[in-house]
Amino acid sequence: MSRAVRFDRYGAADVLKVVDVEDRSPGANEVRVRVVTAGINPGEIPVREGKMHERFPATFPSGEGSDFAGVVVEVGDRVDGVAVGDDVIGFSDQRNAQAESVTIAADRVIPKPHGVRWDAAGALYIAGTTARACLDAVRVRRGDTVVVAGAAGGVGVLATQLAVLAGAAVVATASKENHAFLTSIGAIPVEYGKGLADRIRKIVPDGVDAFIDAHGDGNVEVAVALGVDRDRINTIADHVARKKYGVKGDGTATVSPREALIELARLIAASELQLPIAATFPLEQVRAAYERLGRGHGLGKIVLEVSPAP
Ligand SMILES: NC(=O)c1ccc[n+]([C@@H]2O[C@H](COP(=O)([O-])OP(=O)(O)OC[C@H]3O[C@@H](n4cnc5c(N)ncnc54)[C@H](OP(=O)(O)O)[C@@H]3O)[C@@H](O)[C@H]2O)c1
Repeated sequence: MSRAVRFDRYGAADVLKVVDVEDRSPGANEVRVRVVTAGINPGEIPVREGKMHERFPATFPSGEGSDFAGVVVEVGDRVDGVAVGDDVIGFSDQRNAQAESVTIAADRVIPKPHGVRWDAAGALYIAGTTARACLDAVRVRRGDTVVVAGAAGGVGVLATQLAVLAGAAVVATASKENHAFLTSIGAIPVEYGKGLADRIRKIVPDGVDAFIDAHGDGNVEVAVALGVDRDRINTIADHVARKKYGVKGDGTATVSPREALIELARLIAASELQLPIAATFPLEQVRAAYERLGRGHGLGKIVLEVSPAP
């Protein structure tokens, strides 16, 4: 038996509970992982609230979570290249990551490089693959001027750094508290809110080549007002504006997660990419972790500490 997040009905964070569940031994081509850290993502909130029932229905009791990292403790038949004792980063589409024990297809884990901290490893999948998708969608090239809106969030902070690494000048929207960090990673920070388009024009008078919206709430309109080509605007948070203006909406589903994660983990291990951690909570405090996430501010990811690091 081990502990896992479950909910039996749709609702706010208070429907979440941490309960004892039976561990499942791995079948053929599967591994079982003792989870050290797991991530939480804003997209899980409307699913748990039932607002996505038509597209992503839950079956009860439901688990939760896609991002995790841990140590392989059992290996099923016909598994190649993953062994008991390996440190791994996992990416689940089974809503089961927020648990002490995850049994999953062996090709849904990658090796965790030694230089990637456990907190970043357990929070990398959704934010990392989505950041990669955003970069690919707007085709960031050396010499481009790129705006990343929502640059302090889990997706935005990675997208900002990937754009800098690609050789772009990056204007990054965030609240004042996060400007020093954004400057330190090579971006030009600017406060979001009323008058944003004018502030960006002042910073980059020669114009903006591409716009990544990782927040929604009027950013697509700002991108259009700045004259950015519509096929170089990508939003992951405003489906209404995406349709209205005919801009792109590529997200995590549009990249190969395994390849993207291997590359992101390599960059973090090489100290070329950072994933800041805004807060950590023990698994038992999963409700508090989502309540904190729901406040919508902070630098980087919120992480669940599930079991002690080896
Ligand atoms: N389509 C997909 O595949 C996909 C995948 C992942 C996420 N998403 C969506 O993308 C969005 C971001 O996800 P995330 O994981 O990065 O969220 P997150 O980490 O919770 O984002 C929080 C950040 O939002 C920033 N923020 C708050 N108000 C803002 C505003 N008015 N303008 C700009 N930034 C603002 C905050 O910055 P300050 O602290 O500086 O205020 C904070 O750092 C969410 O809507 C999520 O559902 C979509």
